[in-house]
Amino acid sequence: MSNLIELTNINKYYKLKDSKLHVLKDINLTIEQGDFVMIMGKSGSGKTTLLNLLGFLDHFDNGKYEFNGKDVTHLSENERSELRNSYLGFIFQQFHLIDALSIGQNVELPLLYKEGTDIPKKERARRVEKYLETVGLLHKEKQSPSQLSGGQQQRIAIARALINNPYLILADEPTGALDSKTREEIMNILKKLNEENKTIIMVTHDDDLTKYASKVIHLKDGEITKVD
Ligand SMILES: Nc1ncnc2c1ncn2[C@@H]1O[C@H](COP(=O)(O)OP(=O)(O)O)[C@@H](O)[C@H]1O
Ligand SMILES: [Mg+2]
Repeated sequence: MSNLIELTNINKYYKLKDSKLHVLKDINLTIEQGDFVMIMGKSGSGKTTLLNLLGFLDHFDNGKYEFNGKDVTHLSENERSELRNSYLGFIFQQFHLIDALSIGQNVELPLLYKEGTDIPKKERARRVEKYLETVGLLHKEKQSPSQLSGGQQQRIAIARALINNPYLILADEPTGALDSKTREEIMNILKKLNEENKTIIMVTHDDDLTKYASKVIHLKDGEITKVD
């Protein structure tokens, strides 16, 4: 397996009114292609901050980030969004679906953001159906997100994250808003995707879920205290 991600001595601060919060402290981390990584830690330990900088959604103050063999420490906003659109899929705790759009349109959305590519309508429709089928909800394509249960909405959000065929899926507490039965359903979908060679980085504070992980990173007050 080759390295997909390498972080070297990453530090990040949040600037507060008259102080600074040292939110990530000398983070060193290697993630290989095909890994299923869990980032664990108490609320406020810096999990979301770390995930967001891995996903080019946020910046860090010093250190080095290599992605897919390339130094991505200093990129323009355009280059960052191109990496996001080409290689990454995001899943959030609160699903972030748009209720004014149908389920099919929600899943299609990332394809419309992709710059410089004009994917024909038919091809877009084919892909929407393919990924709705992956999450077992093809029959819901025309409905609206609010007509679905929480677990179904998260499955739609997973289909949306997959539509660009990303290398890497970043998930921030994807089961945090779900009951335990639905949680297992979502974890089984993620497990299957990982077996099909998607790299997954997932934030959770649920110890029960570490059984799905190939690597568990423990964060405490912005520091990695243990990797197993
Ligand atoms: N935009 C921000 N500005 C200032 N402080 C922030 C900001 N975002 C998060 N923090 C603080 O940084 C710390 C880590 O937050 P976060 O990464 O969200 O932790 P976690 O996801 O582990 O709960 C917390 O103390 C939080 O209050
Ligand atoms: Mg968080």
